[in-house]
Amino acid sequence: MNMYEILYKKREGKTLSEEEIAFFVQGFSKGEIPDYQASAFLMAAFLKGLTSEETIELTRQMLLSGERLDLSEVKGFTLDKHSTGGVGDKTSLVLAPLLAAAGVIVPKLSGRGLGHTGGTIDKLESIPGFATELPLERFLSQLKDIGFGILGASANLAPADKALYALRDVTATVDHPSLIASSIMSKKLAAGADGILLDVKYGEGAFMKTPEEAVELSKILVEIGEGSGKRTRTLISSMEAPLGKAVGNSLEVREAMDALRGKGPKDLQELCMKLAEQGLVMSGQFDEEEAAAEHLSELIHSGAAFEKFLSFVEAQGGMLDAMEQEQEVAVFCAPKNGIVNRIHALPVARAALALGAGRRTKEDIIDPGAGVLLRVQEGERVQAGDVLATLYSARREKSEEALAILETSFQLEDKERKRSPLIYGSVYNKDNHIIFSPSKGDRNG
Ligand code: URA
Repeated sequence: MNMYEILYKKREGKTLSEEEIAFFVQGFSKGEIPDYQASAFLMAAFLKGLTSEETIELTRQMLLSGERLDLSEVKGFTLDKHSTGGVGDKTSLVLAPLLAAAGVIVPKLSGRGLGHTGGTIDKLESIPGFATELPLERFLSQLKDIGFGILGASANLAPADKALYALRDVTATVDHPSLIASSIMSKKLAAGADGILLDVKYGEGAFMKTPEEAVELSKILVEIGEGSGKRTRTLISSMEAPLGKAVGNSLEVREAMDALRGKGPKDLQELCMKLAEQGLVMSGQFDEEEAAAEHLSELIHSGAAFEKFLSFVEAQGGMLDAMEQEQEVAVFCAPKNGIVNRIHALPVARAALALGAGRRTKEDIIDPGAGVLLRVQEGERVQAGDVLATLYSARREKSEEALAILETSFQLEDKERKRSPLIYGSVYNKDNHIIFSPSKGDRNG
């Protein structure tokens, strides 16, 4: 077997055997297959596609390339949650304490943001003192005591994915369902939880541009998870507009705390509830989402979910009282009267990036208090001169570029238009069939 023949076979659209995929991933991991051949493999896979058997084997080989987290000493149902990435997506900060308050154990390994999408680890690091790396024994005892913890994903989990992802990033081969699914699932399987709940985003701010593409990706994700013996579900949600009103690290932590007390923006509150309902059904505590929803509302309104968050921050060394107040540097105002029919996620993310909320290169240092706070959500009527967004940064001179970018964010029109649903549906395994179940209601009513 040699790499040239494998590349030739994939180029011709043929199906690779398990041995050929193993040869590629193992050889690449050992440094025996150079980046140029790995890049050619990725492009051939992107253009010709991978069958589900090939995708499952690619995932398995990337999983085998590194360590696995051993959670066996943690008793109870453990659930991992993952989002395919978005703008203003702080759901993990709400969902993990909420589920932990309901008795589901959430050992969450998260990443940093790069480009326009934020990362949970960067958000948590805006809390002074918060440790995103802990020894494994301490993490395990925190899971037993508090029921959840969030750490930065170790480089030792699925290292082959890390190396391949770096090549995908520079060879225009990121946004392919099989490559995305194997990348995500190799890391999720290595993280060792009993169940995997995936928030698959669609829309302008996401990899998958349409809900149909998100369903396709979901089916592959669930097939890989269930085939590996893990209860796996996806919830498909819109990333056309930013989620909630805050985009930027400390701003998002504050908004997540509001949501844990039931006072967050409507879309964030709704998405967190729906994800948590799915999580409780997966854990086996509830058969029906409606009954799970009632229990979750009680945990929010009694303060139990918020208390969990406070215990978690304290356990990981964070000091909420020491968080600095964000510095307001500018406001963006409505140029005319109208209804806010769209708030485009991408320009809002780029404006936050320009203010210092993210990294343009891996070396950039994040300004934890930088970002954009939307003052309106889609569907609201505004008058010319009303403030649509407040801009925060440690460096006032950055506001000029951000204000210019925001000009393309808000679509103001005379008549209200129908918007895409926040939650499109979910994909899961029912009696050994992977099914798509559409959502019953949406934010349009
Ligand atoms: N997130 C991942 O971890 N991998 C991808 O390929 C895309 C999103």
